[in-house]
Amino acid sequence: MNRTLSRAGAPLTGDVAVPGDKSISHRAALLALLADGPCRADGWLDCADTRSSLEAVRALGAMAELTGDILTIAPPSARPDTPLTIDCGNSGTTARLLMGLLAGWLPAGGPAVTLTGDASLRGRPMTRVVAPLRAMGADLRWDDGEGRLPVTVRGAALRGVAHDLPVASAQVKSALLLAGLAASGATLVRGAAGSRDHTELLLRGLGVEVDETTGGTAVTGPRSLPAFRLTVPGDPSSAAFFQVAAAIVPGSEVLVRGQSLNPTRTGALRVLARAGAEVAEVRAALTARGEPAGDVRLRSGALRAFAIEAHEVPSLVDEIPALAVLATQCRGRTVIRGAAELRVKESDRLQLLARNLRAMGAVVDEEPDGLVIEGPCALRGGAPGHPLVLMTGGDHRIAMAMAVAALVADGESALDDDACVAVSFPGYFDVMQRLLDAGSGSRP
Ligand code: S3P
Repeated sequence: MNRTLSRAGAPLTGDVAVPGDKSISHRAALLALLADGPCRADGWLDCADTRSSLEAVRALGAMAELTGDILTIAPPSARPDTPLTIDCGNSGTTARLLMGLLAGWLPAGGPAVTLTGDASLRGRPMTRVVAPLRAMGADLRWDDGEGRLPVTVRGAALRGVAHDLPVASAQVKSALLLAGLAASGATLVRGAAGSRDHTELLLRGLGVEVDETTGGTAVTGPRSLPAFRLTVPGDPSSAAFFQVAAAIVPGSEVLVRGQSLNPTRTGALRVLARAGAEVAEVRAALTARGEPAGDVRLRSGALRAFAIEAHEVPSLVDEIPALAVLATQCRGRTVIRGAAELRVKESDRLQLLARNLRAMGAVVDEEPDGLVIEGPCALRGGAPGHPLVLMTGGDHRIAMAMAVAALVADGESALDDDACVAVSFPGYFDVMQRLLDAGSGSRP
């Protein structure tokens, strides 16, 4: 659906509890398959992406129930005995983690499981997972064409291998560690420094020895997992849209409650602080399974340009769309480098950001691995009744980022697709509206 957006008439104020972290919610659903008893996740994120993981574990025989934000999963008592096709929808995390998990979990000689997805997911690179899994003995085959879904997985005996990843991907690292639980000997993953460590924290919390002393991350198998219970903190990638909105709309002050403060996920907060927003962690606590969480207060401030280099990208990889919008309001030249991965996310995010922000009047250079943005810039939409249509490419994070840009643009803007936000944050527009209404005093 097409959604028209207009300039914020007032600062954003108030507090918000963003929905549960998407990465941890995926892992809670998928790892329950390996557990030896019923598992529970409180604060579980219900969105299209995590539904893909939920439906996958159901298809594989788990009994899963979602009541509000409480997910309970009883793992299957037996492995599948008929071939299956699992549609991972738009979710790269579902597809990639499942490849690693299924490679050693399915019985050797048993039925095949085919993983596929929507057009976006079928266009995303999968060799980065398939090739290292094959080196462990995994039986993974391309159904249509090399490098892309669909992929068919059959059970096989796996052996531990030392991997050197060409991209610092938490999805690939996690797939290999999950395969490593079923493999004989040690599985070592190097080259994923700085990427999110939720799989490692969860495994450690379940008594698995995760060794980080040998220049990477290693697990030794084969081993099973006990039943678990965990609480999912708020998603910092969802919080980032409100935090950037508060930074760029003068006079704003937003409190995000209970967001993940895992240092592998807080790169955007560090950038916001460097850019001149006032960022304060007002309470920090450790949720079950070692995930740090807390409240974050953010106030607008005088904004200056910032630089993001390759080593920092994993800690804010999903926040770059929002941070590119921030850059348009900062004084000076912002340089974002080492972010070529954005070209193979749910869309080519560098291209869509450059195109949309330029259409709004921003000065943006699109580089092969990043963006250069000159600010500050007065963004503009279209004339009343003739909104400037921003192209989302069906990508949830582009849609949410461009909705933030529209808050500081003159005139009317519109998204060509607002439904795609349901991939990670179904209530996004309502929450944003609530912060805007609170600021304009229309609600107490
Ligand atoms: C994710 C890791 C990131 C991120 C994605 C979720 C995860 O991808 O972009 O949204 O849950 O592990 P990469 O690890 O491939 O960079």
